[in-house]
Amino acid sequence: EEDQQEKMDKECEELVLSLPKEKGWRTPYLYKFQGFWCQPKEIQAIISFQKHFQARATDVILATIPKSGTTWIKALVFATMNRQRFGISNCHPLLTSNPHDLVPFLEYKLYADNEIPDLSDLPNPRLFATHVPFASLQNSIKNNSDRRIVYLCRNPFDTFISSWHFINKVRSDSLPPLPLEEAFDMYCNGVVGFGPFWEHMLGYWKQSLERPKNVLFLKYDDMKKDIISHLMVLAKFLGLPFSVAEEKEGVIEEIAKLCSFDNLKDLEVNNSGKAIKNFENKHLFRKGEVGDWVNYLSPLMVERLSKVIEEKFGASGLKF
Ligand code: A3P
Repeated sequence: EEDQQEKMDKECEELVLSLPKEKGWRTPYLYKFQGFWCQPKEIQAIISFQKHFQARATDVILATIPKSGTTWIKALVFATMNRQRFGISNCHPLLTSNPHDLVPFLEYKLYADNEIPDLSDLPNPRLFATHVPFASLQNSIKNNSDRRIVYLCRNPFDTFISSWHFINKVRSDSLPPLPLEEAFDMYCNGVVGFGPFWEHMLGYWKQSLERPKNVLFLKYDDMKKDIISHLMVLAKFLGLPFSVAEEKEGVIEEIAKLCSFDNLKDLEVNNSGKAIKNFENKHLFRKGEVGDWVNYLSPLMVERLSKVIEEKFGASGLKF
C-alpha cells in the first residue's frame, strides 16, 4: 500500500510540474488543473476522489466556490435533512459542532492527505460538500440520474472581498499581507482557488437549467433577503418538503434561526478549533452581509469587475 502511496505522490508531482502556474493567494503558486486553479495538495486529493468515490442515488452534494457561503449552506441542508432526527432542540449538533465537521468536504477532508476513506457504512442519504467545478466531479456523480446537487452562488464583488479578508487572516505569518489591488487583479484574471469564478458558476448554472431536478442553483444574496422561501424550495428539492404542520409550528423559522450568522458566530465551537485543516473556525464568520464590497473597491475597480461580469455572464441569463 505504501508503494502505491509513493507512486501517487510521484505521479502527482510530475503532473504538477507540467501544469501552468501563477502566483497564488495563500501559497506560492496556483496550478491550472483540469481547467481550474488549485494547489498541489488539492490536486492529489481531487485525483483520489475522482478515482475512488462511488456515488449513490440518494447522495446529496453541496457545491460552492470558496467564500460564497459554504458554511451557511452546510448548516441549512444538514438541519433540514436531519430535522426528524434531532428536532431543533437544545442539543442540536450544530450547537456543538462546526458545520464543516458535520458535512465533510470531499477534497479537503475525506480524500485529503492521501486518504481513501470507506464511505460505504454511512447511512443514506449521505451528505458531502465540494469546491470542485462541475466538469471535474467524479463520473458516478455526473452520471447519477437521481443526483441532487445544491449549488450556492454569491455575487462576485462580495465573494472577492470575503476571499481577500480570509486569505489575509490565514496566510502564514512569514508572508506579507496580500494587497487588495494585487488580489483584485488576480481575481479579475480568473486566478483564484477553483476559479475562474465565472467558469465555476456557469458550469453549475448550465446544469441547473438543463436538469433542474438534479441541480438546485441558489444565490447567497437572495437567501439573505428571504431565507424562509428559500428553505421551502430547498426542502422540496431534497425530497423532504415541509408539511403544513411543520409550517404552522414554525420549524422553518427555527432552522433559519439556528443556522443564522448571528447564532453560529457566537457559539463556542465556532470560536475555537479548526474544522478544516489550517483554518481557524472563527475566521469562517466575518460579517455575513450583502454589499460590504462598497467599503473597499474604488470606482475603477467596480468598473473593471462589472465589465468582466458583463462579458462572462451577459449571455447566460445568470444575474447578480
Ligand atoms: P463575509 O466575509 O462577507 O462576512 P464560506 O463559508 O464559503 O467560507 O463563506 C464565508 C462567508 O460566509 C463569509 O462572508 C462569512 O461571514 C459568511 N457566513 C458564514 N456563516 C454564515 C451564515 N450562517 N449566514 C450567512 N453568512 C455566513
